[in-house]
Parts: sequence; structure tokens; C-alpha cells
Amino acid sequence: MRFIKILLLFFVFQVSAQQGGMWIPSLLEGMNEDEMQSLGSKLTAQDIYDVNNSSLKDAIGHFNGGCTSEVISNKGLILTNHHCGYGQIQSHSSLENDYLKDGFWAMNLEDELPNEGLYIEFIVSIHDVSEVALKGITETMTETEKQSLISKNTNAVLKTWPKESWQDVKTKAFYEGNQYFLFVTERFDDIRLVGAPPTSIGKFGSDTDNWVFPRHTGDFSMFRIYADANNRPAKYSKDNKPYTPKHFLPISLDGVEEGDFTMVFGFPGTTSEYLPAVAIEHITKEFNPTNIAIREAALKVIDAKMKESDAVRIKYASKQARIANAWKKWIGENLGIKKSNAVEKRRAFEATFTKALKEKGLEDKYGHILPEFDKLYKDFAPINIKRRNFIEVFFTTNELMQMTFRAYQVEQALVANPDNLQRGKTILTGQFEGIHKNYDAELDKGVYLNVMPLYGKAVDVSIYDNTAFTNLDSALKLLEGDAETVIKNLNNDAAYSYSKPIIAEFFNTIDAEYQQKNAPITALQTKYMTALMEALPNARYFPDANGTLRVTYGQVRGYAPRDAVYYNPVSYLDGVIEKYIPDDYEFDVPQKLIDLYDAKDYGQYADNNGKVPVCFLGTNHTTGGNSGSPAIDAEGNLVGLNFDRVWEGTMSDMNYDPEICRNIMVDLRYVLFIVDKYAGATHLIDEMTLVHPKKDGSKKKKKRKRKKK
Ligand code: ARG
Ligand code: GLU
Repeated sequence: MRFIKILLLFFVFQVSAQQGGMWIPSLLEGMNEDEMQSLGSKLTAQDIYDVNNSSLKDAIGHFNGGCTSEVISNKGLILTNHHCGYGQIQSHSSLENDYLKDGFWAMNLEDELPNEGLYIEFIVSIHDVSEVALKGITETMTETEKQSLISKNTNAVLKTWPKESWQDVKTKAFYEGNQYFLFVTERFDDIRLVGAPPTSIGKFGSDTDNWVFPRHTGDFSMFRIYADANNRPAKYSKDNKPYTPKHFLPISLDGVEEGDFTMVFGFPGTTSEYLPAVAIEHITKEFNPTNIAIREAALKVIDAKMKESDAVRIKYASKQARIANAWKKWIGENLGIKKSNAVEKRRAFEATFTKALKEKGLEDKYGHILPEFDKLYKDFAPINIKRRNFIEVFFTTNELMQMTFRAYQVEQALVANPDNLQRGKTILTGQFEGIHKNYDAELDKGVYLNVMPLYGKAVDVSIYDNTAFTNLDSALKLLEGDAETVIKNLNNDAAYSYSKPIIAEFFNTIDAEYQQKNAPITALQTKYMTALMEALPNARYFPDANGTLRVTYGQVRGYAPRDAVYYNPVSYLDGVIEKYIPDDYEFDVPQKLIDLYDAKDYGQYADNNGKVPVCFLGTNHTTGGNSGSPAIDAEGNLVGLNFDRVWEGTMSDMNYDPEICRNIMVDLRYVLFIVDKYAGATHLIDEMTLVHPKKDGSKKKKKRKRKKK
């Protein structure tokens, strides 16, 4: 019996120990390298991250701070998701040139479209600076004292860290502030749009299929990095040249099958994997449902208006996608947490932790943590909900309220000091112009009527008829004159005088109380992380995502979403045709794609079974920010483009469960099929390096060239 138990433990360890986690690329040697190789990888830690030679990391760029992208040619060609380039594609679109609807392909370098403000950042090197950052920190310091000493310490390091003039440095906290790392980075600002499929391919299935498998979305777009004459970062100039990267990813035409190794290399944004059970319960049972309701109320109006008018559809495309995306994710998160009994499991884990504290004599030091979490969260929950609901109404959904909020901030600045006038006007003008670029007052009024009651405030529909904010010219007129006049103008406005007391309440009581109650939770979370690592030192700890470069790895795997149902890990073009609904706003299919399907005109992009693969699943532990991340095969070739997770597994941000958490990737062969056969942009295919690692089956192709820097 005992023997069986040990065997079983060993088995569980074997399976689960190799799943989940977002690891720091400079620290893969040892445990991660071994795990990856046991999953089928042939890569060494140095192939992935190396400071002295080019390595995979040199091909991975942080796309505009929110997504990931990768270099796929020696002329700086960049691949990311359609939904990551969506804002740029939208900004070049008009009723005459509807690139959202029809797609866009630059047939030569001259046609590639510049994008103001868009940037891509690469990681040059990563350094553990924990010792210097935490120097002088003692147990007896208050949280504020600790934080100010840490920022003093890290600022000093940043000032003197050696770097080239065109590079930047920054530090980031890891393990809830138990470790600090420094990053040397290079940021490119001349990024041009090269190509995007039509929405009916790039966003096929839209909201209905978002966060869902089986999936058939060709969620990709292409950009190009331009650099100056020395191949260094530069602002946009027509004289800039395509960037020559330190490394670019070859693309495998051999695809994947169930069980194949994959790793996803990118910039995951935020996770909270070490929360106490009480926090998971609060988030899924109290917090999420209220925010889901607000977004649902807004979407009801936005979706209807977008279907009525093409002009409104183009204006609200990005905004709608943003609102709908988290709305649906939270619903999935709640379902997954419930279905997997995550709260109960976390409680059981906490019992193990508490037992370990006892066994190790750490009770006095850490025994208070969990009971304290219970107490703090109980106190924190109502204000956390209230504050977030305000943000959902005043920032995420209702644009008139957002404009009055911005104006309120400027009024406060003017009351404090009338000299802030010029700066205030400039900022506010920019914000008004930003909103009005894609604004529809009728739609916004509908949103207001739907969401404001959910924030518990009475609605007054007349404000939309008596406000200057809903028209850009009249809104800007409010800002004319001296400080006193501006304040007077604002306060005479119907919408402004309606929202002012609500905003004042937010700043004076809601946000203040939130900050005060959140601070001890953050501090306790730091301590909990320390305690976990001390009490259970043999567990496998990866740092929560924090927008820095990470490696996650796993295998291609299907999953069972419900009783008696199993999802195969690969979807095919046949499935696109199965889902096809003519003229539907989500499931329409371009005629040309149907023709290619009918003719089976697949070129070199079909699988062994003669079908074109579209998407596949893996056990890689990803999150928001991993969109556009490359899925890399056992030999360092690009096989997929990460863009989503499955609904049942979106809870992986708090609770990764290898049974049902899967990331969704577009098969690179579908990307190439669309570029080549659908768009006819063969010049792009020509600049890529296409390989057959499985068919060649040998080492000879495998050795990547190692350039000395
Ligand atoms: N769910 C994916 C992500 O979190 C894709 C979002 C874009 N697609 C959409 N239908 N809104 O970003
Ligand atoms: N679509 C997400 C993004 O934009 C990635 C999917 C996820 O959250 O896993 O980053």
C-alpha cells in the first residue's frame, strides 16, 4: 500500500511538475532545461537566452507594451496577432479603404504604412539585482519605508548600469517583491504595417468563438521594423532601412502533432498564482460578476449599433473588442474556478502549508498570514468592488463620463494652481481629440443609460442634450479663456455638473479607502511568498507574470471540456467552411478562401492528411500579453502563433490546471497559406526561411548559425 502511494506520488510529480509556469529566460539552466528536454526539446538554455551570442530571445519583441511579436526574416519582418495590430489596422481604415473588412497587403516596401506611437522593444540582457535592490531592508521597517529604500537602491543601480547610448534600462520586482531584475532593452519606433488578412479571417468567429475551442481564427498581422543607417533604433524617417535582426525565427512547414514539444516565448502581462483561497473566492464570487454585468450592459448597445452602421462599426471596432474580451474571459474564469474546485483545492494546499509551518517551527514567524488574509479581504471586498465598478463605468464603457472625469482632474489642477492652465488645456485637448476620433454620441448615450444604474446612480438622460462634451468643437470651446473662465464653463455644463459629485466621491472616499485597505494586502502577499518558499522549499516556484520576457513550455494536447467530450488538438480549414454563415458579421468567409478550399489549392501548406491546419492547442501556461508570442518547436523553429486560451482554462491566471488549461495557437502553415495563396504576397514568403525539421529528420538543418556579436 505504502509502495503504491509512493509510486503514485512519483507519477503525479512527473506529470504535474512539467507543466505550468512562466520562467525567466536567463535562469533556465538546470531544472527548466531538464524539464524541457524531457518533454522533447532539443534546445539548450543557451540556445534560448545568451548574452554573448545571438539566441532565440533576440527574435522576440514586446509589441507596443501589450502584446508579443517575433522577427521572421533578416529584413525585420514582424509577425504578431491581428488583434494586436487591430488599432493600427483600424487607424488606416476608412469607408473607402476598409482594411478591417478587406485586409491590407503592402506589395513592396514603399507601400508599408507608418504607425505613430507604435514601438517594439527587445531584451538585450537580464540581470539579478536583488541584493542591491533589497540592501538595508529590515523586518522592522514600515511598508512605505521599505518601498522608498528599494526605489532609491534601484535608481542608483539604473543610473550607473553600463549600456549603449541607444539602449534603455529598467528594473522590475519578481516574486511579489522578493527579487529584483534589471533589463537592458532596445526600443524601435519606426514600425510599419505590412499586411493583415480581412477580419473574416483574422477575427473569424469574433466574440462567439473568442476564448473558445474548436477555433478557426487566422489571428495574425505583419509589420516591419525600420532602423537608421547604423541599424539602430530611430524615430520614423523615410530614409530608415529595414532592420537586420540579431536573430530571426525559421518557419517549420512540418507542423505539430499531439505530444510534440512546444515553447511559447513572450511577454505575459499579469498573473496572481499565489493568492490565498479567500482572494480567489472574492474575485470569482463577488468581484467578477459585477464587472461582467456592467460590460454586458454596454455591449448590448455597442453591438447593436455596430451592426446598424458601417461607420459606427469602424469607429468602435477596437473599443468593442477590448470590452468584450475581458467580459468573456471573466465568465470563463468563474466557470473554471468553480468546475475545478479551485477554492477548495487552495484551502487544502493552505492546510499543507500550515502543517509545514508547524513542522519547521515557523509558526510564530508566519502563522498569522492566512488568518490575516481572511480578515483583510473581508474588509477590502466592498471597496474593491465599488472602485472597480467606477472604473468600468467611467473609463471602460461610458465615454461622456470619461471626458468629464478628465475635465475634473484639470479643474482640480487649476484650483490648486491657475498656472497649470496651459498644460491642462494641452492634455485635455489631446484626450478629447482621442475620444472624438471614434465617437458616436447616440451610442454613448445608450451605454450611459445602461451602465450608470449598475453603479447605483440615478440617470439623467437630458445631460446628453445639454452638454458641450459630445461635440469636439464645442468641447474644446469649454477650454477657452483664463483658469477662472474654464472652471466656470465646465461647471455650467450639464454633464459636468451631473458627474462632478460622483467623481469627487470617487477621489475623496472610494479610492482613498481602497488604497488604504489594499496596501496591507500587498505587503502580506510579499510575506506570504517568502513564507511559501521557506516552508515548502521543494515546490516549483515561478514568478508571477509582470510584463517581462518569459518562457513557458509544454506539449501539443487536446482536452476534455465536459463529460464524454474530447477536443482534438488540431483544427482544419474544413472547420472554417463548416462554420461558414454567408454575410454573418462573425462567420462570413471570403469567397476567395472558399474557392481555394474547393480547388484544394493548398500549395506546400497542407498537413500529411491533405488538409490545411488552422489552430492547435498546447499545455503552455500563457496569459494576456502572450498574444502574438511565437510557439517554437523542439529545434527552435516557429510552428505557431499564440493568440488565446480555452474558456475552461482562463482561470490559469490564478490557478493553472494541466487537465484543462490550454493555450490556442494559429498554425504557421495557415498564416503562410493566407499570405501566399489568399493574398498573393509571395514576396513576403520569399524573405522567410522555411524548413522541414521532421522530413529532413536530421541534425544538419538543426544547427542554427551562431553569429558573434
Ligand atoms: N481572447 C484573446 C485575447 O485575450 C483574443 C482577443 C481578440 N479577439 C476578439 N474576438 N476580441 O486577447
Ligand atoms: N489574447 C490574449 C492577449 O491579447 C492572449 C490570450 C490569453 O490571455 O491567454 O494577450
